[in-house]
Amino acid sequence: QSVAVLGAPFSRGQKRRGVEHGPKVIRDAGLIERLSALDYSVHDFGDLTFPKIESDEPYMEVKAPRTVGAATKKLSGAVSRAIGAGHTLVMLGGDHSLAMGSVEGHAQQCPDLCLIWVDAHADINTPMTSPSGNLHGQPVAFMLKELQNKVPDLPGFGWMKPFLTSRDIVYIGLRDVDPGEHHILKNLGIQYFSMRDIDRLGIQRVMEVTLDNLLGRQQRPIHLSFDIDAFDPSLAPATGTPVNGGLTYREGIYITEEIHNTGLLSAMDLVEVNPILGATPEAIEATASLAVDVIASSLGQTREGAHASLHEIP
Ligand code: ARG
Ligand code: MN
Ligand code: MN
Ligand code: MN
Repeated sequence: QSVAVLGAPFSRGQKRRGVEHGPKVIRDAGLIERLSALDYSVHDFGDLTFPKIESDEPYMEVKAPRTVGAATKKLSGAVSRAIGAGHTLVMLGGDHSLAMGSVEGHAQQCPDLCLIWVDAHADINTPMTSPSGNLHGQPVAFMLKELQNKVPDLPGFGWMKPFLTSRDIVYIGLRDVDPGEHHILKNLGIQYFSMRDIDRLGIQRVMEVTLDNLLGRQQRPIHLSFDIDAFDPSLAPATGTPVNGGLTYREGIYITEEIHNTGLLSAMDLVEVNPILGATPEAIEATASLAVDVIASSLGQTREGAHASLHEIP
């Protein structure tokens, strides 16, 4: 069992600088040690460096298209190689526009993958519906085949063709969805569990339905894209677009335990940790340490404990 850790210090999918330091604070919170303690051989691939693009004028309202296009292309290649080499991949962001690269690279190796998107936001705006022009609010739109003719050809994105269908994705944790996004979710019949749905059904039922919908017909590799802002801001304050009323610690960890228990997790993203936005050192450490807990739990750390198979109690 081997895990590849890949840092993606990139922030140009949104306005607030600082999220490029996410990989460093997540590593400083002890990620590599925690994964090694789970008995993985951990390959830390370090941080990618991204091409600097001199002139990158907005295209329509979309900001930094060439910069984001080049970064996600590079990430896609690195992710594809790591998964092709047999590792389970952990991508540390960076902002959520990076998911275009990580999911696409994963899909090159595993074309039948499914996607679990844990987030306060749906990140499914098209360049036309986006209220902000920020690409971190749009990655899912670029991946979906059904939205192919709704997404214009952006400079920098010639490398990427849509590869997912709306039945391959489930959202968990939504509570800040733009009108255009809500229209898309309803129109395409995308499965989502908003915070209200979690309140009604409970997280256990939400995970049961999620996994049944994605894996009920056939077992297939899972890509987990986890935006730290899915958690309540009291737990994850150091992030760019916090929204009240988020996941509790226990709900978040239950989600990842259930995903681990499928045995099908093949790659994950942990994005949107922004240490510059923590009000105090404690706020930054709490957010980074929560990110480590999410990753460790996705990879098999359990709350009930575990033991190597000894025959007798020593
Ligand atoms: N829906 C808003 C937008 O399109 C916010 C997106 C926030 N995304 C994120 N990955 N935190 O700009
Ligand atoms: Mn979000
Ligand atoms: Mn997001
Ligand atoms: Mn295990």
